[in-house]
Amino acid sequence: MEIVKLKGYEEMSQKSSELVIKTIQEIDNPVLGLATGSTPEGMYGELIKAYRKNNVSFQNVTTFNLDEYVGLSGEDSNSYRYYMNEKLFHAVDIPIEHAHVPNGDTKTPEKECAEYEKLIRDVGYADLQILGIGLNGHIGFNEPGTSFDSKTHTIELDESTRQANARFFNSLEEVPTQAITMGIDTIMKSNKILLLVSGEKKAEAVQKLVQGEITEEFPASILQQHTNVVIIGDEAALSKL
Ligand code: F6R
Repeated sequence: MEIVKLKGYEEMSQKSSELVIKTIQEIDNPVLGLATGSTPEGMYGELIKAYRKNNVSFQNVTTFNLDEYVGLSGEDSNSYRYYMNEKLFHAVDIPIEHAHVPNGDTKTPEKECAEYEKLIRDVGYADLQILGIGLNGHIGFNEPGTSFDSKTHTIELDESTRQANARFFNSLEEVPTQAITMGIDTIMKSNKILLLVSGEKKAEAVQKLVQGEITEEFPASILQQHTNVVIIGDEAALSKL
């Protein structure tokens, strides 16, 4: 694992956007795996700035987001489709039909999962997969106990995850209880993984991810077995290493 320690959130966002741009420039039809949440917001902002300066084009890029809440439509401001449209897709030149997010607004989530996994397999696993990490070690919405062999699947969200994400909703009750997420195996098939971490509250999770036992009880620990992982973090998040 390569670990890049930077001063703060802005430096982390800048550096990670440079890596994304490099991937887009080096590969003909790049596939990016994308994450939502607070951590990558700054990176998306930097990508938009670079696009406006004509430093990067997303015209040949295909993206697959990690996850989506079950029960929310793409028009719901708390859905991850909405987040991505707002924070990246609508601000750059990506053909929107190349920008994939699982459809959470479906009566047949199992079918949606199988189709999403097949589409990823057909288009190609990510050249670069962006990840954040939950305090409980989740990557995507693969909560503790998820099989390392998992493909895209539905998952019951942990109470701690719902509480952590309640800040985006009016109340805890409004946070969906289920999500669709790429599986651990899907994530591990990416060519390169870029994990972003910021803030002191992530320090313990980062330590477990890098130095802890590899166990399904702490899903991110599997990244120790991937041969091409870069962690870009600020001093606070990397303080326990
Ligand atoms: C989001 C995702 C999650 C987040 C994680 C950290 O698509 O897959 O695993 O990366 O919950 O979220 P933040 O960045 O909000 O701390």
